[in-house]
Amino acid sequence: MFTITPSDRLLVLTGAGVSAESGIPTFRDAGDLWRNCRIEDVACPEAWQRDPRLVWDFYSMRRRVASAARPNPTHLAFAKLESLLRDHLFLCTQNVDSLHEQAGSKNVVHMHGELFKSRCGACDRSPFEDLNTYAAPTEIPRCDCGGRIRPHICWFGEMPFDLDRIFRALEECTVVMAIGTSGIVEPAASFVRHVASRARTIYIGSEDPANARLFSECHMGKTGELLPRLFAAL
Ligand code: OAD
Repeated sequence: MFTITPSDRLLVLTGAGVSAESGIPTFRDAGDLWRNCRIEDVACPEAWQRDPRLVWDFYSMRRRVASAARPNPTHLAFAKLESLLRDHLFLCTQNVDSLHEQAGSKNVVHMHGELFKSRCGACDRSPFEDLNTYAAPTEIPRCDCGGRIRPHICWFGEMPFDLDRIFRALEECTVVMAIGTSGIVEPAASFVRHVASRARTIYIGSEDPANARLFSECHMGKTGELLPRLFAAL
């Protein structure tokens, strides 16, 4: 069903559907709403300026949900694939949870940031591991410089991380596989357009993504069931 040769270079883009079977609701399943706020209105720099407590309430909730989640067969399949393909696999995720790493993947590019990291909103101190929650009435932590500590997340209106590396990998890859992502949020939704004229392009998920016409193959189903079967031949 899925063949890959030693000369192939595989770029994988995972989305929220990959973590759904671990119990983390996808954005669309969550109805894009939290406490009657659109998620885009909480996950943005304007919300941080206006109401940092609300923003930390939201990310504290997400840290709690993600702490309880465990890797599922899709995460495990990619960890195994990495051990087989080594640097011929480039794994890029829009997910901010750490389930790929918990499954054993060593090289994961988190283009939308990492839920269990924080950074200073004012100075250029490096992002650091942070498992704490800061829901009200907990005080918002402060950096030594006095700035507020914020989640290390790419908010709507901000530039995703590692785009240079991702576009270099897109130049080199021969196969692009997008999994469990609705194909709505840019720039990730356009990665496949970038390679469509020369690479094999595969979508795997429970329904057609918005950019389905750009893929040469679409496999419909739950990723936890489909992926281990797709990779069984490797
Ligand atoms: P979405 O919630 O938009 O889409 C999840 C996709 O996964 C949908 O197309 C579902 O059909 C599919 N899906 C759900 N459960 C599945 C399962 N068990 N197996 C297979 N597919 C399944 O999530 P993303 O596309 O990842 O950005 O969202 C992209 C970005 O939009 C997120 O990273 C976030 C968000 O708003 C930022 O926060 C910047």
